[in-house]
Amino acid sequence: MTTFVHSTEAASAVPADVLVLPVFEGPEAGPGVKDVKGIDLVALAREAKLKGKAGESLLVPNTGVEGLAASSVLLVGLGRRGEASPDAVRRGIGRVARQLSKRASIATTLAQAGGRSVEDAVQAVVEGVILGAYRFDRYKSKTEDEAALERVTILGPARWNARAVREAIRRGEVVSAATAWARDMVNTPAADMTPAVIAGEAQAMAKEVGLEVKVWTEKELEKGGFGGIVGVGRGSVNPPRLIELTYRGAAASQAPIALSGKGISFDSGGLSIKPADGMETMKCDMGGAASILATMRAIAQLKPKVNVIAAIPSAENMPSGAATRPGDVLSHRGGKTSEVLNTDAEGRLVLADALAYLAEKEPRVIIDTATLTGACMVALGADVWGVLSNDRALARDLIAAGEAAGEPGWELPLHRPYRKLIDSEVADIKNIGKRYGGAITAALFLAEFVGDTPWAHLDIAGPAFAEKAGDYVPKGGTGVPVRTLVRYVLAQAAKPARAG
Ligand code: BES
Ligand code: ZN
Ligand code: MN
Repeated sequence: MTTFVHSTEAASAVPADVLVLPVFEGPEAGPGVKDVKGIDLVALAREAKLKGKAGESLLVPNTGVEGLAASSVLLVGLGRRGEASPDAVRRGIGRVARQLSKRASIATTLAQAGGRSVEDAVQAVVEGVILGAYRFDRYKSKTEDEAALERVTILGPARWNARAVREAIRRGEVVSAATAWARDMVNTPAADMTPAVIAGEAQAMAKEVGLEVKVWTEKELEKGGFGGIVGVGRGSVNPPRLIELTYRGAAASQAPIALSGKGISFDSGGLSIKPADGMETMKCDMGGAASILATMRAIAQLKPKVNVIAAIPSAENMPSGAATRPGDVLSHRGGKTSEVLNTDAEGRLVLADALAYLAEKEPRVIIDTATLTGACMVALGADVWGVLSNDRALARDLIAAGEAAGEPGWELPLHRPYRKLIDSEVADIKNIGKRYGGAITAALFLAEFVGDTPWAHLDIAGPAFAEKAGDYVPKGGTGVPVRTLVRYVLAQAAKPARAG
């Protein structure tokens, strides 16, 4: 566990193991660099061919430099001065936390270099430190020392609002801990992260942070008409669940924000089975569920004045003699039917039930997130999530929250003319369209179940799981889009509910 403190000391006076200072492209001195008087750090950087670009760093040991209390200085490139953002800060400090895999204390002026919002830059420092130090070694027989830094001193001028900084630190801590928990759930092998285990995690979390929770069993789901969840889960020995969470932060009369996330604990494709290499990372197919659980946890801890409910469907998609077959028809919550022509298009089947259930509660908006389609990955690549929505303002708010949180997203059109591609001969709708526009037909399927509720669907098939390590993510689960959703919910709490 890392302790974060805010201090107004001069950079050179802080007795830390490592003083982390930013340099901009040039190289140009960032905040605090000129405070170190006994040594010309910019000249040193130039000699070492440091240009100040993002990704660069230079460690300078303190060999008796006059007036420098830290044992060493680490210069971290942040890119162009005018373009420095909270995300540049998060990445810069994230790399430091990844490299300094020891119990060190650091002090840093990085938050002073992260653009206009002090709060966002401070929060980004905290997130970079915690998420950069994240490791998943539960399944290693030998584990390395804990990576977390012991103490991080965030240096800022006296004019900073100390209380706002304290709150930003706390937001960063809460959101990062929740994100790390989501990563853990995604990284845990599917054999150990079944729907029942996910539900157990939800119950333990709810108890800890004070959320109401209800877990629907397979029998209850059958009785309740959740034919999609039951149908997808039928082929597995691990029965499905629906996890319902309630956060009450405002008057009961205020319509809640409703959240859902795809919780396929493993996606083999079912009888429409995937090829072997397509299955390698499919323990990540509950990444949407994990991110919604983590979002609810962070919300319960940050206590915004808004109501939030979540309904998270979880099932394991396996082939067996009991599995749903291509051609079978499922009856969803609320009565709509779907023809399953490909059992590998399973996410929309479980989400349909959850969305229909949430719409019954008349929420102000519904947001779902899912590792839904390879097509979205083809369109937007590994870093960027897609958003498809029946409400432009909602999509815009989510994209803005994602940009501010360092989790970029972009809109794909919910192009209604493609709806005919999922017309079924025998049921109300079928679960696959044509090869092209796969992210859109998947979203159009979901749209059938939200009625008139403003709704946005985040397809996170790309960013949920990192195939290669990033600045503050090792390979594996990333926790995207927890930071985006927490930010969105906090922003909504700060403004009145839209008139329905
Ligand atoms: N879980 C997959 C989508 C996915 C693929 C997520 C790669 C992350 C990485 C989803 O259930 C799936 O199999 N989708 C199919 C749909 C198709 C059968 C219509 C796809 O995208 O190929
Ligand atoms: Zn899937
Ligand atoms: Mn699938």
